[in-house]
Amino acid sequence: MCGIVGYVGWRGAQEVLVNGLRRLEYRGYDSAGVAVVDGTGGLEVHRAAGPLDNLVAVLPEEDVSGTTGMGHTRWATHGPPTDRNAHPHRDVTGKVAVVHNGIIENFAALRAELEAEGVELASDTDSEVAAHLVARAFGADPDAGLTAAVRAVVARLEGAFTLVFTHADRPDEIVAARRSSPLVVGVGQGEMFVASDVAAFIDHTRDAVELGQDQVVTLTADGAVVTDFHGETARTRPFHVDWDIAAAEKGGHDFFMLKEIEEQPASLADTLRGHLVDGRVVLDEQRLSDQELRDIDKVFVVACGTAYHAGLLAKYAIEHWCRIPVEVEVASEFRYRDPVLDRSTLVVAISQSGETADTLEAVRHAREQKARVLAICNTNGAQIPRESDAVLYTHAGPEVGVAATKTFTAQVIACYLVGLALAQTFGTKYADEVAREYAELESSADAVARVLEAVVEPTRALARDLAPSKAVLFLGRHVGFPVALEGALKLKELAYMHAEGFAAGELKHGPIALIEQDLPVVVVMPSPKGRAILHQKLLSNIREIQARGARTIVVAEEGDETVRPFAEHLIEVPAVSTLLQPLVASIPLQVFAAEVARARGYDVDKPRNLAKSVTVE
Ligand code: M6R
Repeated sequence: MCGIVGYVGWRGAQEVLVNGLRRLEYRGYDSAGVAVVDGTGGLEVHRAAGPLDNLVAVLPEEDVSGTTGMGHTRWATHGPPTDRNAHPHRDVTGKVAVVHNGIIENFAALRAELEAEGVELASDTDSEVAAHLVARAFGADPDAGLTAAVRAVVARLEGAFTLVFTHADRPDEIVAARRSSPLVVGVGQGEMFVASDVAAFIDHTRDAVELGQDQVVTLTADGAVVTDFHGETARTRPFHVDWDIAAAEKGGHDFFMLKEIEEQPASLADTLRGHLVDGRVVLDEQRLSDQELRDIDKVFVVACGTAYHAGLLAKYAIEHWCRIPVEVEVASEFRYRDPVLDRSTLVVAISQSGETADTLEAVRHAREQKARVLAICNTNGAQIPRESDAVLYTHAGPEVGVAATKTFTAQVIACYLVGLALAQTFGTKYADEVAREYAELESSADAVARVLEAVVEPTRALARDLAPSKAVLFLGRHVGFPVALEGALKLKELAYMHAEGFAAGELKHGPIALIEQDLPVVVVMPSPKGRAILHQKLLSNIREIQARGARTIVVAEEGDETVRPFAEHLIEVPAVSTLLQPLVASIPLQVFAAEVARARGYDVDKPRNLAKSVTVE
């Protein structure tokens, strides 16, 4: 949600922080700010509403002398995105500064407590209370140190938070704490970093330490000391980051999203790689016995947004291969309707970030009800996989564009892998059948590469042509239905255009009333061979909308001549098996949304009001 970076070392902190924030801007861009301890007992704080460049414009040209500091890029929750609500926030003396990601749920009570003591708060945020509370705790016993003050305060906080504190009287250290929000430590030579994401410090070090739940870390230039909220030494997990900064750069494209669209063949191949061992599909982590898995008699898939669309596709694969009922539900609804869960229920949680609050809470609810949880995630060690019984990581690499592209297709292929893993455990597929399906999945990377070669340019031209449209509808059937939903979501999210996805069979039950002269309608056709009956029905649907004046854009299998007369614009994708069709059909819809947004003059990577990971419910 928000991005946080902290630094203690020998470099000018301001530059390190600003560069780190550039890499974290995908987490929020409502405002940005930095605080640097200047070494003479002062704390230099600069903040500005809007994107990071607004902050850069108000920073002193000369880096202030301090080598300790922290920065923040905000996605607003409490209080509008103004200068006064931008982080870092300070206490009344101006000596303590804090940056915060998450929500302090009991902030109203804490604020009232501070106000009763005469403290005047300078912002509308929940975060500011933490600065005042730490200043008060430190002031009461300075010899106990900043870490003790932070521990005492975070133990009182409710909600999800990552907090980083600095104190002007302690110029050589920063102290951070986390609960249910991400925080990693970067270990350099004579310098240490702390951040929401390794991308913030990958320029300087690839050695990192993952912090656990309810931990506090004190950083000095020489190292990190990690404890729990009570001061007990805590266990952490060191890891080495295996991607470099080039992976997080735009690779010659105007926008990260365009690069990420092109990376899909690689991310599909990387996600599959190494998961068939001695004829068996293996997950990355499995803390469940085969017997526990065999006892599963029902599957729920929970996820949000694009990940939910991947989950809809999981249903087709798992039910088909395992003959077990699968329900797919948006995570934000799941736990509030009291779903029927027990030990024999498997909940598959899909989240690229692994920190989406709605999905995390659904996981927690499922576990409280004794259900087994399997996570599909793109972020190693994130909270959702940590709280799950089994994990399959997608290897899509860092995705900076807010719109999910390569993580979506990687999630789809990962869902299919889960389907195969379950089929082999349940015995609904023999080893040779599993191997055949796996090989089929492996062919998806080539198929997607061929789509990219063939459709990007014509789809961009089409998008520029249709960019002035008021609305676009997307229709699909069977596995084409989630593709239609995803195509519409991409267009809404990036081009701020009214877009809806429908199951084409539903058209005549209402949505057909929306069809008017020149309305663009994108139709995702099933294969005329694999799904002949559905193909026929969809042709009839296209006729119905064409008769009412719609402009038809049809995504169809290469060589499907029957559809040509009904397509004002035909986008041909390679013939693949039914389950792989969503992978090839989604690519042109991603390109379409990105290009419409670009033609309308919008920032493709940073759509308004959105953040890459949504850590509030
Ligand atoms: O990190 P997650 O996969 O849990 O995120 C879920 C959604 O917020 C996300 O897919 C969102 O819908 C995308 N921005 C869509 O492109």
